[in-house]
Amino acid sequence: MKSITDIAIIGGGVIGLATGWQLARSGKKVTIFEKEEAGHGAGWASAGMLAPQTEAGYDQKELLELSLESLKKYPEFLKRLEEDSGIKVEAEKTGSLICALNRDDLERLQRFYDFRHQLEFPVQWLKGSEAVEKEPFLSPKVTAAVFVPDDWHLDSRMFITALKTAFTNKGGVIQEHAPVTEILLENKGRKISGIKILNQKTENEKEIQVDSIVLAAGAWSSQIKGIPEDFIPPIRPVKGMILNLKAESCQLTHVIRAAGVYLVPKRNGRLLVGATSEEKGYNLSANIGGIKDLLQNAFDIVPGITETSLEEIQLGLRPANRDHSPVLGPSPIQGLYYAAGHYRHGILLTPITALEVCHSILTGDTEKLKPFSITRFLSSVST
Ligand code: FAD
Ligand code: GLY
Repeated sequence: MKSITDIAIIGGGVIGLATGWQLARSGKKVTIFEKEEAGHGAGWASAGMLAPQTEAGYDQKELLELSLESLKKYPEFLKRLEEDSGIKVEAEKTGSLICALNRDDLERLQRFYDFRHQLEFPVQWLKGSEAVEKEPFLSPKVTAAVFVPDDWHLDSRMFITALKTAFTNKGGVIQEHAPVTEILLENKGRKISGIKILNQKTENEKEIQVDSIVLAAGAWSSQIKGIPEDFIPPIRPVKGMILNLKAESCQLTHVIRAAGVYLVPKRNGRLLVGATSEEKGYNLSANIGGIKDLLQNAFDIVPGITETSLEEIQLGLRPANRDHSPVLGPSPIQGLYYAAGHYRHGILLTPITALEVCHSILTGDTEKLKPFSITRFLSSVST
């Protein structure tokens, strides 16, 4: 078996690229193996929202803490990224307006507000007229809204391009169209020894010896052979679709969320309208019913979208673990690390994932990642 790298990262999505960049800037010899083109996984389709306060789940205390910490790390992370890539990623703190149109929405909004108020987030309850004053493109039918001022969003494609550039500038290697088919083990399965890669042209497989592996294959992370069953992350794909609109005539200044839809304004006159959530395996087609629902829900909250035009349909597979939290850090198999299953929050969680997974590989310290260990699935009943 040939050794060409110290660390192999399986998957060149936003998480693999960011983790690779951190490892490469620490002086490690890192190769990312990507089955298609690096950067073009779920992250390429994403809306780029960095919204831990809005997205806080009622029973996800540890994920919320991780998310808040990740957002805190963003300014420094983007500064270093600009130094290493030469690319200044567009990121804005616009805040989000969560809007209600009817009685059901209003009940949900009240619960949404109460939970965040309890957590001492600086949320503001607005009457419909106050919400429209803040964001004049909102429908006059909005009955109430909650303003979450601390939410950010960034241009995720610019972010991913910068990560790819920074990684290679720091000496990292990307092998594209190189799917990893198997993880190889030794010492009675207790330690990794290498990986098997498929050459798509010749259909031959080759084996490469490595010291460490980071599994960052997004929605495909449960598909790679060789991992003992107990340590295969229970990740499934959840398709998401976003309509990318040219919206010069409808320039929103906040992220808008309402039942079944969010609208995220970008600086170049684009407006992202998302997102569907579909459980259809690895199918990546654009479902007409999904397009209809997104447009109807968006029109109900921002009627001005009728004046926009459709530029692109963005499709991606969110990697969802059984408990919708990521699996991070070392496994009981020596040399195998995880950075997978970020579901709806992979862009938000990129800095903390990259920094902490890198830290755990370099130092063995896994304190912060403990709640996200693969071992949490060992005692749970499969659903
Ligand atoms: P991916 O980005 O999917 O990358 C995985 C990579 O691994 C792919 O390139 C794939 O080709 C490669 N791969 C798979 N198998 C192999 C193999 N065997 N060998 C080699 N390579 C392999 N998150 C937010 O924080 N904010 C948002 O606003 C947001 N909006 C979203 C909107 C939509 C519509 C979608 C779909 C997602 C959104 N997300 C958002 C979620 C976010 O995009 C994901 O959590 C994130 O992209 C996961 O990153 P990843 O690198 O794990 O997976
Ligand atoms: N976080 C937004 C989405 O996954 O659609």
